Amino acid sequence: MNHIRISGTGSALPAHCVTNLELSKTVDTSDEWIRERTGIRQRYLAGEGETTSVLATHAARKAIEAAGLTASDIDLIIVATTTPDMVFPSTACLVQAALGVRGGIAFDVQAVCTGFLYALGTAERFMRAGGVQHALVIGAETFSNLLDWNDRTTCVLFGDGAGAVVLSLSDQPGILSSHLHADGSHAGMLCVPGNLSKGTFSSPSPFVHMDGQSVFKFAVKVLDEVCREALEKNHLSVEEIDWLIPHQANVRILQSTARKLGLPEEKVIVTVGEHGNTSAASVPLALDTAVRDGRIQAGQRLLLTAVGGGFTWGSAVVVF
Ligand code: ACO
Repeated sequence: MNHIRISGTGSALPAHCVTNLELSKTVDTSDEWIRERTGIRQRYLAGEGETTSVLATHAARKAIEAAGLTASDIDLIIVATTTPDMVFPSTACLVQAALGVRGGIAFDVQAVCTGFLYALGTAERFMRAGGVQHALVIGAETFSNLLDWNDRTTCVLFGDGAGAVVLSLSDQPGILSSHLHADGSHAGMLCVPGNLSKGTFSSPSPFVHMDGQSVFKFAVKVLDEVCREALEKNHLSVEEIDWLIPHQANVRILQSTARKLGLPEEKVIVTVGEHGNTSAASVPLALDTAVRDGRIQAGQRLLLTAVGGGFTWGSAVVVF
């Protein structure tokens, strides 16, 4: 039992789907502009009661069921989120309570769109250290709460949702390696530059600010680097990867990453058209979508990668 496998996946979306056309009735944009620049056709937006922990819990239940376990088997819960229900306690603690269990380890990680990779890498290291047999790793966001719906340069890009995996100790190979990086000197390129203080949101802003073109260039560069790092570490060629599951920011970023790596586009899981950019939820949401529609099969080699605010970026090679 010296390996760590993904034993189950799950995901959840809010009930309300908003197409580009619907969005263009309230925001100065068009279906054509959004599709051409981003590949996004629609996104799901959280409504009343659909908080980050609620979406996370739905995704978690499905992943636990897929793993053939019950919630009481879970020793560790890590939720990656930038949009927790509360300042504290952590969303992971709220999920634990909603699952009806107590006593294990539960905490959040915050690495924005790289959050799931950070949570996966953290859980992997916990499990290698001993004492955890099954871990629940969730990426969950209600990013719509951070958007200025009058700012067409950002609000069209994002959606809400959650994805989860259960990691289990196994005698079969699973996570081969994970690679995490950060460079805080780029904090201003993508941020929500305010904080809660003395009962109000402090200036300058409670909304997402983004230098879109700089983000684009940075993302394409580091995704290529961190994917190559993962391949080299495992002595794998790009041909030996069955599926690339990148953070779903923008279809042009995904295409550029695949092109730079020399990976055919047919091997890239792309869900940004249906979900928009769901930040920390995007990688596990894409993974679960492709597992449930039968594209990803047991034994296949997956390359997961993401980049996000911080800036942060990471990758992992996983035998599914
Ligand atoms: N609808 C219509 N027009 C728009 C919209 C919109 N939603 N948004 C901007 N425009 C206009 C601009 O005002 C500008 O008009 P102008 O020429 O009259 O000034 C024009 O479109 C071009 O704007 P640019 O910002 O130059 O457009 P660009 O081609 O760079 O595309 C985009 C913008 C899609 C944001 C691109 O820069 C991008 O994809 N960047 C990556 C950002 C990203 O993925 N962020 C997600 C978070 S980060 C992450 O997940 C890693």
